[in-house]
Amino acid sequence: MKKILIIGATSAIAQAFCKRSLHNAQNDFYLIGRNAEQLELIANDLKVRGAQNVFVEAADLNTFEQHEKLIEKAQNCLKNFDWVLVAHGVLGDQKSAEHNSHQTLEIIHSNYTSQATLLNCIADKMEKMGSGVIGVLSSVAGDRGRRSNYIYGSAKAAITTFLSGLRVRLFKSNVQVLTIKMGFVDTPMTAQFSKGPLWTKPETIAMELVSLFENKKNGEYYLPFFWRYIMLVIRLLPSFIFNKMNFL
Ligand SMILES: NC(=O)c1ccc[n+]([C@@H]2O[C@H](COP(=O)([O-])OP(=O)(O)OC[C@H]3O[C@@H](n4cnc5c(N)ncnc54)[C@H](OP(=O)(O)O)[C@@H]3O)[C@@H](O)[C@H]2O)c1
Repeated sequence: MKKILIIGATSAIAQAFCKRSLHNAQNDFYLIGRNAEQLELIANDLKVRGAQNVFVEAADLNTFEQHEKLIEKAQNCLKNFDWVLVAHGVLGDQKSAEHNSHQTLEIIHSNYTSQATLLNCIADKMEKMGSGVIGVLSSVAGDRGRRSNYIYGSAKAAITTFLSGLRVRLFKSNVQVLTIKMGFVDTPMTAQFSKGPLWTKPETIAMELVSLFENKKNGEYYLPFFWRYIMLVIRLLPSFIFNKMNFL
């Protein structure tokens, strides 16, 4: 039985992850998200699926001054964090954000700053616990800035770099840090895009994600795996070609 803290628990991928984790265990969950009503629905569903205890906490994660108390409360409740998944984020409207500082900051705070400050609080606790796995949902968008989403991509690149350092910090404390670089996943975040062969369902991601947690993996993982090769090519493209690829 695992004690699992989920930050951004209303995310479609986070929900699929929680359900998948119950396939062979009766876990305890502490769910943090900003939609109280939806959190209750998710909690009830997880209980029906065999979860032991499910606690919920409604909070806007961009309210940074709450972070320490939020994590303190979660620890008091669960006592221990076996697994932590950080799943909140927004795609935002790139074109509009280019001319609007408020929107730019919203994208950066949701995908990077809030995650960094929460992870600082979580790391302090888990360092003392001396075990556990932290997973954060990053994106292939952070591998190279693209015309269509470079504000979002820059925040994902920042969290990926943050996690690379956090992994080194927590290595001595036996805490694993997973950076999950995902490609296209069919969730509410991407509802406006037409889907093609490169698209994946949250349930497929969740299956691989739970396996990474169960096997205490440490490091950066592309999900699905083939994005490693796609992004290798994208990263290697010379600028004089890449700059002409406006459609990306
Ligand atoms: N879908 C993809 O193709 C894809 C690809 C790569 C990476 N990712 C990353 O995967 C993660 C999960 O996304 P998803 O695909 O599961 O999309 P999703 O279902 O739209 O989940 C995003 C969640 O983040 C929550 N959130 C955003 N800002 C928040 C805040 N300030 N406070 C609390 N909650 C907040 C949203 O809550 P509300 O519902 O209340 O708005 C929503 O539940 C994100 O970090 C995303 O960037 C997704």
